[in-house]
Amino acid sequence: MLSKIINRFNNYLNRPNFKSEKTYHFDQHTSLILKDLRRDLAKITKINSDNYMDYLDKDISYSKREEIKNKIIFVLKSNLKNEQSKKFSIDENEQNSLNDLKFNGFTKTSHFDFSEEEVREIKDFFKDKKKFPGHIISNTEKPSLNNLEKNPYYTFQSSDILSSSVIQKKIFNERFINFVENYFEFTPTCVTLNLYSQKNKINQFDYLPQFFHRDYHDLKLLTFFVFLSDTDKENGSHCYIKHSHDYETFKQNLNKDIYDKIHSEDHNLLSFFELNKNSYGHEKKLDLLNPYYKYMYGKKGTSFMTNNYGIHRAIEPTNNERIIFWLSFGMFNNQNIKRLPVRIQGSKLNNLPTENYNKFKYIYRNYIKF
Ligand SMILES: [Fe+2]
Repeated sequence: MLSKIINRFNNYLNRPNFKSEKTYHFDQHTSLILKDLRRDLAKITKINSDNYMDYLDKDISYSKREEIKNKIIFVLKSNLKNEQSKKFSIDENEQNSLNDLKFNGFTKTSHFDFSEEEVREIKDFFKDKKKFPGHIISNTEKPSLNNLEKNPYYTFQSSDILSSSVIQKKIFNERFINFVENYFEFTPTCVTLNLYSQKNKINQFDYLPQFFHRDYHDLKLLTFFVFLSDTDKENGSHCYIKHSHDYETFKQNLNKDIYDKIHSEDHNLLSFFELNKNSYGHEKKLDLLNPYYKYMYGKKGTSFMTNNYGIHRAIEPTNNERIIFWLSFGMFNNQNIKRLPVRIQGSKLNNLPTENYNKFKYIYRNYIKF
């Protein structure tokens, strides 16, 4: 009990020293959409601060989860139908990526890779930006020389990430957003934005991204990752268990040997979708799926996307720093805004979109104050 109190007190003392916003105020167009959405979503599940995930039990059954997800998708599709622009049709590369995402749960996205020059510009831009110890900003501590040295990770605050003109051009790219909308079949919300580095190997087990897990912060997710350092399979890659994003696909495509092995060890297929603790801590059981481990890696600038509900982990760097940028989209919202730094003002951005501006305001409302 006493150690719990001391721990809490220490966490409080070491909380990151950024300001946050108590409530988010949005532009008029976004506010109107949100008002209608909240009204309709409240009929399915209670929502608070726009976060329906607060009301879902972590250990909810897979079928219940799917049932709620489909109801929410129905509301989002009908309420957001005027937002999606029909400007671009999907080209062949993009269609292949959409098929991969549906079937495998992940895809390489060479059509959205960053060039060498863009990676150089980003790295240069972040050279003197403030680093926070930890891998996501909502889970960091107050930076000090000591904890930045000790922590294997550092990350940056979203307002700094969004100040990079290369990143602004990427996140406001119409073709890119068009692709993401095609995946969701409605206009999604940007739910996380991150640029983090892992400097060295971690020995302790601490529910960190190098252990297999599912991301549970929304019922449908798509994350765009870009390596900002060179990676290969054994050094800094991203490992994803093929088909682990969808039970039906998993069931239909699992080979017979593995199927038999799973059953001979008294497991059933659905149990892989109902692992507790966001699937952390099940390395031994997941090893049965070893032939389905797929790795994404490549030179700096290489990008890929995943449905990050599927089971995945980051592979530790062996001889260099692993730096990665990610942009994650969800169905509606998952923000605990009290743990996030204040949003950047839209007026500070030089590369705002010229068309479909209202739509971008809605998508990036959690990170940019328009
Ligand atoms: Fe993850």
